[in-house]
Amino acid sequence: LLVDASPQSAQKIPDKMFGIFFEEINHAGAGGLWAELVSNRGFEAGGQNTPSNIDPWLIIGNETYIIAGTDRTSCFSRNEIALRMEVLCDNGGSIICPNGGVGIYNPGYWGMNIVQGKTYKLSMHVRSVDSVNLLVSLTSSDGLQNLATANVVAGALDMANWTKVELLLEAKGTNANSRLQLTTTRKSVIWFDQVSLMPLDTYKELGSMLANLKPRFIRFPGGSFVEGEWLRNAFRWRETIGPWEERPGHFGDVWRYWTDDGLGYFEFLQLAEDLGASPVWVINNGISHNDQVDTSTILAFVQDALDSIEFASGEADSKWGSVRASMGHPEPFELKYVALGNQDCWKKNYRGNYLKFYNAMKAAYPDIQLISNCDGSAGKLDHPADLYDFHVYTSGNDMFAKAHQFDRTARLSTGPKAFVSEYAATGQNVGTGNLFSALAQAGFLIGLELNSDVVEMASNAPLFVNDNDRRWNPDAIVFNSWQQYGTPTYWMQQFFKESSGAILHPARLQTNSSNLIASAITWQSPEDSSSYLKIKIVNFGSDIVNLKITVAGLQNAVNSFGSTITVLTSKNLMDENSFKEPNKVVPLQSKLQNAGEENMDVVIAPHSFISFDLA
Ligand code: AHR
Repeated sequence: LLVDASPQSAQKIPDKMFGIFFEEINHAGAGGLWAELVSNRGFEAGGQNTPSNIDPWLIIGNETYIIAGTDRTSCFSRNEIALRMEVLCDNGGSIICPNGGVGIYNPGYWGMNIVQGKTYKLSMHVRSVDSVNLLVSLTSSDGLQNLATANVVAGALDMANWTKVELLLEAKGTNANSRLQLTTTRKSVIWFDQVSLMPLDTYKELGSMLANLKPRFIRFPGGSFVEGEWLRNAFRWRETIGPWEERPGHFGDVWRYWTDDGLGYFEFLQLAEDLGASPVWVINNGISHNDQVDTSTILAFVQDALDSIEFASGEADSKWGSVRASMGHPEPFELKYVALGNQDCWKKNYRGNYLKFYNAMKAAYPDIQLISNCDGSAGKLDHPADLYDFHVYTSGNDMFAKAHQFDRTARLSTGPKAFVSEYAATGQNVGTGNLFSALAQAGFLIGLELNSDVVEMASNAPLFVNDNDRRWNPDAIVFNSWQQYGTPTYWMQQFFKESSGAILHPARLQTNSSNLIASAITWQSPEDSSSYLKIKIVNFGSDIVNLKITVAGLQNAVNSFGSTITVLTSKNLMDENSFKEPNKVVPLQSKLQNAGEENMDVVIAPHSFISFDLA
């Protein structure tokens, strides 16, 4: 392998090259990254008809003792459904309540993870004209193990109007499959709404797994989730901002689950800011999977999108910027990328709608980069765009071959570059995310680095999967209520976290093997500004490869001190990680002894991804 590290042949990789794509799929947010432990906290998930399904809430006690159902009496006008609980028993009356009382419970998203010593904040809205004596408790899934309790006591008429109750529960035990119970032994009629339980410290391992990828952008909130099967179920940013109790929530009909939109537009912008990643806001431009707004009537949608940009980046005294400010973020967010639709180029109204959005947005926000859904890799687009979206889901072998997808793309001095916003190796050989799929994708990403003069950004899809609701395989990060692990695809992406903004050098493999691909970059550590040369090689084949690496034109001499070799491989190509073996396929790092040598002899294991990092 000949690496030419001289400045003359160097080329800068775009600053935002590698990022992440967050979609509300597989319970990635609701029951995942979002800290809310109660599922269906507003009782809205069953729809606006009453009586309504209150799933997954269930009743403790039978109809001799308790009747519960929904009505439309909530104090929140955008989500009117509330739960009415009528308790027929009373420990001082003729019908004695069963042991432990009667009430309702919420099992969360396949069990709440309650951890000893942690404090949880309960918040709920309650109404009753009776005197109330409620026990709030966190228990095991059968209700037998008590992990935390608190009492809510109120005299008759004290809660005649909706009253917000907030209290802290400190867990005295640990159970990953816990539930929240609201019980009583007093005859009464009590209404509940917007019942929330969150850990006081909302830190999540899932969040740090994202941060560890050092993503330069985050595309959100979908995907198909943005489109909806039907427009009536598409993501509407306006319904996801403001006080959480007032958000109506919605049924994401593509991935077929309810989200209360606690992780809303504002929180996505906040997440981007916390990660130091540029937000890429995917808007619905009037097109779902099954219906479309006619271009002649699209203007209201265009205005809605303009308002969303003002919400994100307008001054605090602007109409929508002031709403953001009222949510605690007076400073504008740095919103620089907006995608107009998702995978919709082929649809009848796409271009017409696109142009309406494009023209209005460019006029109001000339600096925002607008992303078209139409593929510009093979020919010029017939409409203006700053970037074009490129999605690729294909078999592992084809994914590896697609490293050359952009080799023949015309190098235009102007014109949009590619945003490969969804890529994944899929199909029967990739399991739920194995070494094979990771290697195929690693090869593809090296191809993108090599073509980073025409490819601006890239992100894998999907990012998260709750193991209890696998809507899509494979994914990068797997979790349940209390555990998480990265699939080999997650770890593969770690090899690219220094690439954004780095300098790419020609790296020529002197072999005919189509199973090898390599790239070389230099990057500067932000901590001590020292330079590193990173050479990455994927061996997609089943043979050992002996390579001689020769680096010419290095500005600073490298040495073995601080130089490392990192290898992602495993015994079997089909190996995956799991909750039982989360570290079966992870990168292993060791010292690189011969780093200073002019010709470095290296052995590339079969089916491996290797990074040589020369200090
Ligand atoms: O990543 C999963 C889905 O694949 C996305 O929602 C959609 O854009 C694509 O079809």
